[in-house]
Amino acid sequence: MLEDKIILGFETSCDETAIAIMRNDELLVNKISSQIDLHEKFGGVVPEVASRAHAEMIRNLLHSALNEGGVELSEVDVVASTDGPGLAGSLVVGYNFAKSIAWSLEKPFLGVDHMVGHLSAPLIENPSLKPPFLSLLVSGGHTQIVLVEEWGKYNLIGTTIDDAAGEAFDKLSRYCGFGFPGGPAIQKIGDGGDETKIDFPRPKTSNKFDYSFSGLKTAAIYYLQGLPDDQPISKKDFAASYQEAIVDSLMSIFEKAVKETNVSTISGGGGVMANSRLREKLMIFAENENKDLLLPSPKLSTDNAAMICIAAKNNLITNDLGLEDIRLSSIIS
Ligand code: KG4
Ligand code: ZN
Repeated sequence: MLEDKIILGFETSCDETAIAIMRNDELLVNKISSQIDLHEKFGGVVPEVASRAHAEMIRNLLHSALNEGGVELSEVDVVASTDGPGLAGSLVVGYNFAKSIAWSLEKPFLGVDHMVGHLSAPLIENPSLKPPFLSLLVSGGHTQIVLVEEWGKYNLIGTTIDDAAGEAFDKLSRYCGFGFPGGPAIQKIGDGGDETKIDFPRPKTSNKFDYSFSGLKTAAIYYLQGLPDDQPISKKDFAASYQEAIVDSLMSIFEKAVKETNVSTISGGGGVMANSRLREKLMIFAENENKDLLLPSPKLSTDNAAMICIAAKNNLITNDLGLEDIRLSSIIS
C-alpha cells in the first residue's frame, strides 16, 4: 500500500468530470462536474457531447480541486486515472490529461480499471474492509458479482448476459419520459408506490450467478402497450413495481453467491448502489445472515475520482514506483 503520498486522481469514463486528491488516508477533495444538464434533453449520454464537455471542464476543475485542497501541483506524488472501461472519447480526455501532468511533474502514472475503482470505493469510509469478500457491482454498463480473494485478485463469478441493471433503469425511463438518469428518476417516482402492484418477471439464466435484464424492460413496455385506455396504471405503482423487480433479481442471485462462497463480508458499488431499496434489502439480508456489510455512501457509489485515488493507493504494494506507466489489475473471469 502506498504510504505518505499525495495522489491526484481523475475519472472521465462517462458523463462526470471528476478529480480527487488524497493525502494518506485523508480525502482532501472530491470534485464532480456533472453533465446531466447537457444530456438530459437527449434522454441519454451523447458520447461526442460528453468528450467535448470533459475537455472544456477539466483544466478549471483541476485548478479548483488544488485550491480547495490547499495543495500545490508540485506536491503531487502520484497521478492516477481511469483507463477503461467506458466511452472511448471521454476516457481519453481524462487519461491523457492525467498522463501529461505525470509526465510534466516527472511522477509515476497509474491506470485504474473503472470497476476496480467502484470495488475499492467502500475503503474511503470503511478502511477496515478486507478480503476475502464478495462485491455486487452495479453501474450503468456492468452488473457483476466479484469474489475478492485478495487485493489485486478479482474473480468475476457472475455477470449480465445482456443489459446491466443500470441500463434497465435508464432505458425504461427514457421510453416513459421519466427523466435522466433513469435510476434516480424511477426511484423518486416510485417512492411510496405499491411495489407489489405489477408482478414483473425475475429472469433466470443458465449460469447460476449470471443476470439478465433485457426481458424485464421489454415486459414493462408490453405491459404499458397492453393497458386498456380506460384503466391507466398509477405511475407511482408502475415505477415501484419495476424497481422492485430489478432489486429482487439483483438480491436473489447475489444472496445465492454469498451463501455458496460462504464469505463473511459483503460489499458493493456502482451507481445503482445509490438506490435506497437495494441498500435496504442488502442491510436486511446482512443482518439476517450475520454478515458484515460495507457499502460506499450513495455519493461515493456513483462515479467519482476518490475511488480512483483509493484504488491506486490500496492496490500498490510498494512505495517504490518508477516512471514507467503502471496498470493496476482488472477484474478477470
Ligand atoms: O457507476 P455509475 O455512476 O456510472 C457508470 O459507470 O455507468 O452508474 C450509473 C448508473 C445509471 O444507470 C443510473 O441510472 C444508476 O447508476 N443510478 C441509480 C441510482 N443512482 C444512479 N439507479 C437506481 N437508483 C439510484 N438511486
Ligand atoms: Zn461507474
